[in-house]
Amino acid sequence: MNERMRIAITKGRLLDKSVKLFEQAGFDCGPVKNPGRCLVHSLPNYPLDAVLAKAPDVITYVENGVCDLGIVGRDTILEKGGTFYEVLDLGFGKCRFALAVKEGTDFYGTYKTRRIASKYPEVTRAFFEKKGMDVDIIKIEGSVELAPILGLTDAIVDIVETGATLKANGLVPIETVADVSARLIVNTASMKLYKNQISDFIARCEAELEGNP
Ligand code: PRP
Repeated sequence: MNERMRIAITKGRLLDKSVKLFEQAGFDCGPVKNPGRCLVHSLPNYPLDAVLAKAPDVITYVENGVCDLGIVGRDTILEKGGTFYEVLDLGFGKCRFALAVKEGTDFYGTYKTRRIASKYPEVTRAFFEKKGMDVDIIKIEGSVELAPILGLTDAIVDIVETGATLKANGLVPIETVADVSARLIVNTASMKLYKNQISDFIARCEAELEGNP
């Protein structure tokens, strides 16, 4: 008899794509497709409950073992870190972290300390630390593109998907900081406790991904 496992799935853009993958892999996701305000849904034909959560909380629930599995973007993994296994690149939710400036700015052509705005201060810190560059990082909660436009910072480190937001705001990407896509993560204890079930789940997702690269 299989134990029911829990998977935390990031709400928003990654949810629809996760549901699509699961359905292709043969898991009935009916309840997750029409969630209403309900946050926990049992899959009818597989011993798995889907928990809908915000990206950083997906990591918190998996790390603390109240969810066995999680689906979360690599952007959140890089920013928040944590102890868990990252077992599969799900191939969707593809975008990148980029360093971007106002068009015409010579970002590296000065010795003064640059100011960088980002929703991801840890990713930004690690990027410039690797370069041995001292920068001031200002945490912004959203629409980071405003910071250089308003003259608050010299640059931003932000998610770029199509590039449309940068372009519409007169900014240009000058360097890729990291590539991002959705990842399947697993709690370290669950990996041992539910070894066979988790292997089966990963194998089904993997087979589907290989069939639809
Ligand atoms: C993200 C990101 C960029 C935009 C990039 O913002 O922070 O602003 O999407 O996408 P694009 O390259 O396809 O234009 P989001 O929509 O999550 O809103 P926010 O800026 O308010 O966080």
